[in-house]
Amino acid sequence: MNYKLVFGALALSVSLSTTQAQRVMDVQTKKLGAAVSPTMYGLFFEDINYAADGGLYAELVKNRSFEFPNAFAGWEISGKVSLKDDGPFERNPHYVRLAPSGHRDKHTMIENHGFFGMGVKAGEEYRFSVWARVPDGGTAKLYIDLVDNATMSDDQKMGSGNVEVSGKEWKKYTTIIKPKKTFGRAHLRVWGDSKVTTDVEHVSLFPVDTYKGRENGLRKDLAQALEDVHPGVFRFPGGCIVEGTDMATRYQWKNTIGPVENRPLNENRWHYTFTHRYFPDYYQSYGLGFFEFFQLCEDIKCEPLPVLNVGMVCQFQNGKDAHAAMDALQPFIDDCLDLIEFANGPADSKWGKIRAEMGHPEPFNMKYLGIGNEQWDTPYFERLKPFVAAVRAKYPEIKIIGTSGPDSEGKMFEKGWEAMKAQKADLVDEHFYRNESFFLGTKEGKERYGNCGALRYDSYDRKGPKVFAGEYACHGKGKKWNHYETSLYEAAFMTGIERNADIVTMATYAPLFAHVEGWQWRPDMIWYDNLKMFRTVSYYVQQMYAMNKGTNVLSLTTKDPADAKGKKQIPVAGQEGLDGLFASSVFDSTTGEVIIKVVNTSKQEQPISVNLLGMTGERMAETLTLQHNGSMDDENSIKEPNKIAPVPGAARCEATGKKQQTVLNDRVPAMSFRLYKIKK
Ligand code: AHR
Repeated sequence: MNYKLVFGALALSVSLSTTQAQRVMDVQTKKLGAAVSPTMYGLFFEDINYAADGGLYAELVKNRSFEFPNAFAGWEISGKVSLKDDGPFERNPHYVRLAPSGHRDKHTMIENHGFFGMGVKAGEEYRFSVWARVPDGGTAKLYIDLVDNATMSDDQKMGSGNVEVSGKEWKKYTTIIKPKKTFGRAHLRVWGDSKVTTDVEHVSLFPVDTYKGRENGLRKDLAQALEDVHPGVFRFPGGCIVEGTDMATRYQWKNTIGPVENRPLNENRWHYTFTHRYFPDYYQSYGLGFFEFFQLCEDIKCEPLPVLNVGMVCQFQNGKDAHAAMDALQPFIDDCLDLIEFANGPADSKWGKIRAEMGHPEPFNMKYLGIGNEQWDTPYFERLKPFVAAVRAKYPEIKIIGTSGPDSEGKMFEKGWEAMKAQKADLVDEHFYRNESFFLGTKEGKERYGNCGALRYDSYDRKGPKVFAGEYACHGKGKKWNHYETSLYEAAFMTGIERNADIVTMATYAPLFAHVEGWQWRPDMIWYDNLKMFRTVSYYVQQMYAMNKGTNVLSLTTKDPADAKGKKQIPVAGQEGLDGLFASSVFDSTTGEVIIKVVNTSKQEQPISVNLLGMTGERMAETLTLQHNGSMDDENSIKEPNKIAPVPGAARCEATGKKQQTVLNDRVPAMSFRLYKIKK
């Protein structure tokens, strides 16, 4: 071995890291800046990637009402099974008739596959329910088995139950099934008494242990992950889903309320967008509807932000003639006004009454309404006007959110902003799925996108509408995956959101959910299969910001390396000469803490020295660090859900000079995001 060479290389690396200049920053802890909006850092829900049915909505049966265009999609049938269409639920008229097989050894049965199978856990309770009747009168038994078809023996029955159906009237029957093993691909088999015809409709299976224990509830682990973010706002139900594939398949909130059995099916806007599923079966049962969304917001303590259709279809996919004509907008406007009444109106108002009947007589206190998703140009601007006029006239307290379209820059984006200013929208919803250069604000990013990076919002007009960064994610290396590096760049970019909290009052990463076997868009914040879930690094970035958003911005600056005199102070936003450092700071008046966030996007550890101006004496800072020593392409997964997660720690703040000025000295690890909390 050439020891001289090795020693030389070692010496070089040591000297490289030790000569790294210490970056001095000043935080003005006494001068409280703009208030940070309580709505800052939230969640954006859209039923994409099997986010609702097959995801957050805990129903395990797919096509429970036999309303898919292929009525038996998701089902296997055997024996004398027929489809009827004069069922008890007007908007879901189909049901299934199970006739006697006519032979002791023959069976009449139906078996549901769930969403990529059904995830069930040993010893837990599952509530089976069905609407049924015996059309010829008398009684009949329905047998229900949870099965593992891969097991070639009687052992394939993992759990069973039965219900006794009586009489010619439709009634709801339930039984509890307790599977004896944990399995992610269970099927639900329902079979009839061999002597009597039985009609079945709305066949359903839910875990009893849903989030908050609700019968029409949400998958507990996924809802808990939402609560754990401590979001400020929750935008729903999408995204492009608001517009649908075409006008017929747009999201219509009125179809999503009332008894679940009578909520009509909708073809999901993302039905045709899989590259690997040629016979898609992506529909919306609307079991997770607007009432449930409002309830979830209440549960996770954030502001609901519904987005409604502005009488337009997706402009990417449809010609302009597909929009509602200007003189045909009233039903769409009524949808907005009626929604506000549904959410906030008295329990004896027309729509408030439905909310009350659904179990929530108190208002939901909705304050925000998005009108239109990613719409652009004149067709949008002219349609939006009568909506704004109608909402302002009847509900002046509601804050209206318009959109600047699908791009984060360019002619249409500018035009959108001008129009939103002219129409006095309260907020403008901006979307940016962009690469690394945008998030870091590199030279390449500026050339390609113009105003980007953590300085983006520093130059925004403070007199117009506020910004809602409604959909964004770093789509890195053309890979579009949740690898560590992209999440770190999101953290870097977000220092700019935080510093500009006077103009940016909401920000939501997108999309939120993805089923590992049913996704069509990535990256996403939370992934799952039928039994397990994992939080991505981007999730942790969002959570670190949301849980540490503070109440007021604090000025955090450093000397401008480009200023020869060394007098000019600039924000720390990855500018040339700052070695990829990004930083921001807030004060939390509820805890009395100064919170500093530092993102080091360079490949070297960086020494920093932060003067906490206005604070004296030694202190300990609590830290939370997101760091990864492996490949920057690494990510969390179902197998390794906790591979990369924030780690708590501590750092010492010294007292220096005569005035005993508090100074935080630290070495921020290469490619890391660290936050510091210092009690004032
Ligand atoms: O988040 C996925 C999609 O991206 C949304 O539906 C749409 O608004 C945007 O184009």
